[in-house]
Parts: sequence; C-alpha cells; structure tokens
Amino acid sequence: MTTEIGKNIDEAKAHLLNGDVVAIPTETVYGLAGNALNEEAVIKIFEAKNRPHFNPLIIHLPFWNDVKKYVTYIPEHAHTLAMHFSPGPITYLLPKKATIPDIITAGSKKVAVRIPAHPVTLQLLRAIDFPLAAPSANQFGYVSPTSPEHVYNSLKGRIPFILDGGSSNIGVESTIVDFEGDDIIIRRNGGISKEEIEAVLGFPVSSATEASEHPVAPGQLKSHYATNTPLYMVEASSLTGHNHDNTITIGFGIQHADATFNLSPEGDLHEAAKHLFELLRIADAQNAEAIYVSEVPNTGIGVAINDRLQRAQHQMK
Ligand code: TXA
Ligand code: MG
Repeated sequence: MTTEIGKNIDEAKAHLLNGDVVAIPTETVYGLAGNALNEEAVIKIFEAKNRPHFNPLIIHLPFWNDVKKYVTYIPEHAHTLAMHFSPGPITYLLPKKATIPDIITAGSKKVAVRIPAHPVTLQLLRAIDFPLAAPSANQFGYVSPTSPEHVYNSLKGRIPFILDGGSSNIGVESTIVDFEGDDIIIRRNGGISKEEIEAVLGFPVSSATEASEHPVAPGQLKSHYATNTPLYMVEASSLTGHNHDNTITIGFGIQHADATFNLSPEGDLHEAAKHLFELLRIADAQNAEAIYVSEVPNTGIGVAINDRLQRAQHQMK
C-alpha cells in the first residue's frame, strides 16, 4: 500500500466512508482515525499500530452537543469542564451507549470522548455522521507523532492517507478525566493541567495515574513513548555532567545552554511540550549511546512532560 500525504479533506473522508483508516491532525498529537461504529475499521486501527486489543480508544466528535448521542449520562462537572476546555486537549470518560462497540472500550462500560481543537479535523468531523476512533498515530510503544512526517516514518505502507494539518500546537496528549459520583479523577496528565481544572471547578480533584501493569487508562503502561536509544530522565542540576561525545543531552531553560538540544531556551513549559516528541525523535536518530533529558518544573503542563519522560525511560529488563 502506498501512503499519500495531502491536505484534501474530501480524500480523507472518502477513505473513512470506505472503512479505511487515515491519520488526522489534532492540536495534541496526530491520530490514526477510523469509523468508531464500524468494527472492521476499528480492527484496522489496532493492526496498523500493532496495538494490543486490551487498550481502549478515544472517540472524537465535532461538537460537545453530539456527545449525548453516544453516552447515557453526562455529569454536571463534565458539562462545566466542557464549557471551558472543549474543543481542546481534554478527554472525558463517560458511560457508553450500546451503539459504541465493545472493542472501542476494551469491554469497559465507559467510553473516552474528546472534541479536538484543530480546524482541519473539526471540518472533517462535521462532514461525516459517525465519531472517529483515534489513538496516537505511531507504532505501539514508540514516541507519539506531532507532524505528518512523524506519522509517515512510523506507518508508511500500512495506511493509505495522512491528512496534513501542520505541526501539533500542544504536543502532548489530552488530559483524561474520569467521573465517579461527585469525584473527579485525572487518569492521564496532558494538555490541560490539574491546576486549570481545579480553577474552573473551584475544588481539588484527585489523580490516579500511577504507572502499573494493569492501569485503569492502559496508556499508562510503564514502558511507553520509548526511544530505541536508551533514555534517562535526570535532575536539572545533573544534566551537564552527562555531556559526552557519545551522548545526547536535552535541557530546559538557559541553565542548559551547553546541552545538545533544548526543549525551551526561554524556559516556557508550553513551548517545551510542543517540541518534546520531535526532539526525542531527532535525538533517537543520532546513533548515540544514550539520551539524557532534564526533568522540567513539575507544574502546569510540566507534569505531563515529566510523565512522558518517565515512561520513555530505559527499562531494566
Ligand atoms: O490527545 C489525545 O488524546 C490523542 C489524540 C489523537 O486525540 N489520542 C491519544 O490516544 O492519545 P491513545 O490511544 O494514544 O491514548 C488513549 C488513552 C489510553 O491511555 C487509553 O487507555 C485511554 O485513553 N482510554 C481510552 N478509552 C478508555 C476507557 N474507556 N477507559 C479508560 N481509559 C481509556
Ligand atoms: Mg498513544
């Protein structure tokens, strides 16, 4: 199969109507999309990615108003968050209707729903009458893609079309929020920070994102986002000590002016998030012995960055 890259939304739509999968741009990362109501299309997503079937998929819709077609109940707090953050990098876990195939949720009673904030993909979603199931458009376990070229490098020959919408602006995946009674639980840290969520709700929320072998949000598997070159996350103060001929160092802020690469010379966490996956891919292509990355301040979107770095770390087998 040849893989085309193009900007024609109608071409993406034609593949989707045909039951095929296409890569789509979002503000977080590129997604590998198929008709969420068509089990055969959904199976193609898992196959193209080599993704295990126990890992459920997020469905994407053009309007918050459409969510009620696919879920049985929307908690008040979900509405409140949606009014502030959707379209945007936030995903809601809500009780699913029977029309959502079990393969989407890996058997769970809840489905993950998101309204992405990307003009091209919103236009595509409005042009079809089904939700798009879309995991990140990378081979399972590798670094997520933030440009059409990243998708091409991972999935060429495995999918017919990549819809080009430029580089992703946010650069880390959506924050996943779960609702249990009146409790709100962050299942994955992402583009919207815990602080932003708490500011809107006016009360503290909890996090249950611990890496484990049987996670509630299975993207929380410990080994994920991994480079082929062993990667180590280190304290900011020790990064410089890892500068050697055969290593790559990735720093943050002016303190790391001597690093091989810098996530944000100005020390801006949003800029760091935007460049994170691209820099990991570039570093991985250098044939170095090891990649050392500085942790970033653990606040705001920095929490999501540190989470991805932790999961990208070399696992002692
Ligand atoms: O920003 C994003 O969310 C991107 C773009 C493409 O929208 N998508 C993305 O998908 O990151 P993926 O498949 O790489 O990660 C989805 C995460 C996984 O950790 C999965 O386990 C969790 O969402 N998830 C999906 N459905 C779930 C469910 N029903 N219950 C719990 N976790 C779920
Ligand atoms: Mg992923």
